Amino acid sequence: MTSTFLYLLFFSVMDVCLVKMPVLHGDIAVADTTYKNAEPCTATEKGCKWPKEGRYVYVPYYISPDYTQEEQNIIIRGMRSFNQTTCIRFIPWNPSVRNYISFFTQPNSGCWSYLGRQKGVQHISLERGGCVRYSTVQHEILHALGFNHEQVRSDRDRYVRILFNNIKRKQQYNFQKKRTNNLETPYDFSSVMHYNKYAFSKNGLPTIEAKGDPAPAFGNARQMSTNDIIRVNKLYRCSKLKTYSTFYLLCEYV
Ligand SMILES: *[C@@H]1O[C@H](CO)[C@@H](O)[C@H](O)[C@H]1NC(C)=O
Ligand SMILES: [Zn+2]
Repeated sequence: MTSTFLYLLFFSVMDVCLVKMPVLHGDIAVADTTYKNAEPCTATEKGCKWPKEGRYVYVPYYISPDYTQEEQNIIIRGMRSFNQTTCIRFIPWNPSVRNYISFFTQPNSGCWSYLGRQKGVQHISLERGGCVRYSTVQHEILHALGFNHEQVRSDRDRYVRILFNNIKRKQQYNFQKKRTNNLETPYDFSSVMHYNKYAFSKNGLPTIEAKGDPAPAFGNARQMSTNDIIRVNKLYRCSKLKTYSTFYLLCEYV
């Protein structure tokens, strides 16, 4: 048994009062002994994909009582958007279940998530104040489901230019291209997984520039894009993809 597992077990017993902050890559948490799991796992089914039971992928969740009811509702609404557009089903955790996600807040915990499924309790940090927003909930959940940032996609150089000279040195690795599985979906500037133009800027100048004329706007998504949803459906092989995306398009305008 690894120490990480023990640590996770320990905290599930302790009811998440104090979460040891993991090493962060941007807003992606990297567990010490499970570093290899942090690589883009969308391409394989080696274990960081949540398992499917029949037609659905059940992801048990726990929400810390440190959130107000209103904040809990925002988190629930974020999860429900997956329920409604994909085959992911967020179900309330009960203590007999081993693998689950746990939303928590601590002073200065920030917004972060692990990439793909971990083992045991898997924390998602949504600090009260800055992180309890619908789009952030969706963003961090997409990490937990195995998705990386849009601007690190394998084909990103055709769509954006990364201005490394303007990026804080210690954050530059957040912009390294990854060998992602793009699931035959186009590069999507409106993805909720796209960084904004000034992400990790050290000097107030842009760190990402869109190619194209006119250059598309990006990084301001207020919710998952249609492509974000299609990717979840493809990665988890949800059936009835058409119905889901049509449904989503309809609700977008309600
Ligand atoms: C998602 O769907 C499942 C199964 O239909 C339901 O039990 C669960 O409460 C739903 N989750 C949310 C967050 O609405
Ligand atoms: Zn992120």
